[in-house]
Amino acid sequence: MISSNCQMGQGSASVKISDADFEMIRDFIYSHCGIYMNASKKYYLENRLSRRMCATGIKSHEEYGKLLRDGVRGKEELRHLLNELTTTETRFFRIMPQLSAMENRFLPEIVEAKQKIGFRKIRVWSAGTSSGEEPYTLAMILLEKMATILKGWTVEVIGTDINETILAKAREGIFNGYAVRNMPEYYRKKYFLEENPERYVLSQEVKKLVTFSHLNLYDDSRMVFMKSFDFIFCANVLIYFDESSKAKVVQHFYNNLLPYGYLFVGQSESLHGVNDRFKTVHFPGGFAYRK
Ligand SMILES: C[S@@+](CC[C@H](N)C(=O)[O-])C[C@H]1O[C@@H](n2cnc3c(N)ncnc32)[C@H](O)[C@@H]1O
Repeated sequence: MISSNCQMGQGSASVKISDADFEMIRDFIYSHCGIYMNASKKYYLENRLSRRMCATGIKSHEEYGKLLRDGVRGKEELRHLLNELTTTETRFFRIMPQLSAMENRFLPEIVEAKQKIGFRKIRVWSAGTSSGEEPYTLAMILLEKMATILKGWTVEVIGTDINETILAKAREGIFNGYAVRNMPEYYRKKYFLEENPERYVLSQEVKKLVTFSHLNLYDDSRMVFMKSFDFIFCANVLIYFDESSKAKVVQHFYNNLLPYGYLFVGQSESLHGVNDRFKTVHFPGGFAYRK
């Protein structure tokens, strides 16, 4: 039975999920995007499903499971469900040691090597980009370099995510006070128009370096086309994956990087036991993986 909250359009249907339905829907989600939910996530999933059951007017988890399997309708519904399920916490300049290692050590190395072969292009990918703070941070850092070592170079930053709602927000490039709270003042003043303390509008100069697109990291057919990156940042995304789905995605990253390209993961993440083809490169406050 669906609660009155849902009928009143308040967005929460309270239907208890059985263990069998939890496993059926959990496994379906896992097989499509690699996100794995163990038994401790049962009530989290129940809560998120309730919103979709409200929106679709479906009254049982079994029926909802059937909708997910229903061809084009199912695909569309899965997109909505994933928008509800994904954790999108992010911020500007989130992992400073990584950013300064990229800016001051790895980027100059790559620029020098590419300079020698006359290939003046840098490509950076923020995989699991959320509302855009990460790729825009990278774009601002690279933009600064376009006055010096990247003068005359082409710079491309790609942000991808499975959550379409958050991508729409990323494309807008408008942020609140909370989002910009830890940003170095230099960048905030230079690249944002502060319309009021709750509305910061990112400059076109930064926005035009970044392209966003919808991409499920677990989708092999799309991942093989992500080519020729110098840097991949995939922070705080693979924590939602199990070992085998992580291994699959990380192998793609390896193939997506140019020789000597770098992969950065979150501060509490590692590729230990997941992929041994990368070389670990340490720097003050962290490490990166080099192809
Ligand atoms: C916690 S945010 C991390 C944002 C940013 N990388 C950072 O560290 O600040 C995780 C993002 O990964 C995305 N995500 C989760 N599973 C994904 C998948 N299979 N494919 C693509 N993106 C995924 C989520 O939608 C979410 O926006």
